[in-house]
Amino acid sequence: MSTWDAGLYKDQHSFVFQYGSDLLSWLQPVEGERILDAGCGTGELVAEIASSGASVKGIDQSASMIRSAKAHYPGLDFETADIANFELNERFDAIFSNATLHWVREKEKAAAQLFKHLKPGGRLVLEMGGKNNVAGITQALEKAMAKYGHQYKPFWYFPSVAEYTTVLENAGFRVNRVHYFDRETTLKDSDNGIIRWLEMFGSHFFVNMAADERTAILEETQRLMEPTHHRNGKWIADYKRLRVSAVKASASL
Ligand code: BEZ
Repeated sequence: MSTWDAGLYKDQHSFVFQYGSDLLSWLQPVEGERILDAGCGTGELVAEIASSGASVKGIDQSASMIRSAKAHYPGLDFETADIANFELNERFDAIFSNATLHWVREKEKAAAQLFKHLKPGGRLVLEMGGKNNVAGITQALEKAMAKYGHQYKPFWYFPSVAEYTTVLENAGFRVNRVHYFDRETTLKDSDNGIIRWLEMFGSHFFVNMAADERTAILEETQRLMEPTHHRNGKWIADYKRLRVSAVKASASL
């Protein structure tokens, strides 16, 4: 999404990069390494990786996210680029990607690009939405859209372990570690957490829709989720994470 609201992201959805911090235990960056953060958003994890002494570049398809990253971390290296099509004139010791690859529909192209931009022996550490990620939200949204005469079309790519490890293996990677796990996530806005989440991440579902209809669908989606996803006064998003560590074996070109 190139029109992301970086302010809403940092204010209401900072859990995305806060959880991403935990993924750094799989990356284990080392001083002197050159690392690419593919889908760096507003740059917080680029800064965290850089604090290990590694030299880091962050890329993101969203120009507004990259503008925010450059403004907050003026000493760090950021560029607007699409993971499925980017072309950098260097090869990295490691590539890191948090909460991004489920936006990339051209998954084979993305895997090929990530593979190409690694040095032989380089490692890939990623986390993304896995099978049935945010199913509570998408099922409620589908019902709410149908009520107002709109057809819900799946947009994100939430693969199973088998599907995504196959994509990576076909690109040439050797997959050496995979976790698929639930991460129920408490949303910051206790009144309208689901509505805020959809405003941030689901704007593509509402393109060309009248504002009052969009509001009605958002409210209906949240209402439908109340019995199952509103607990102790808080809204819960039913995240399911797919975490993978893979390597470009030294013999690969
Ligand atoms: C996720 O991180 O799983 C996610 C974020 C936004 C939209 C869809 C999924």
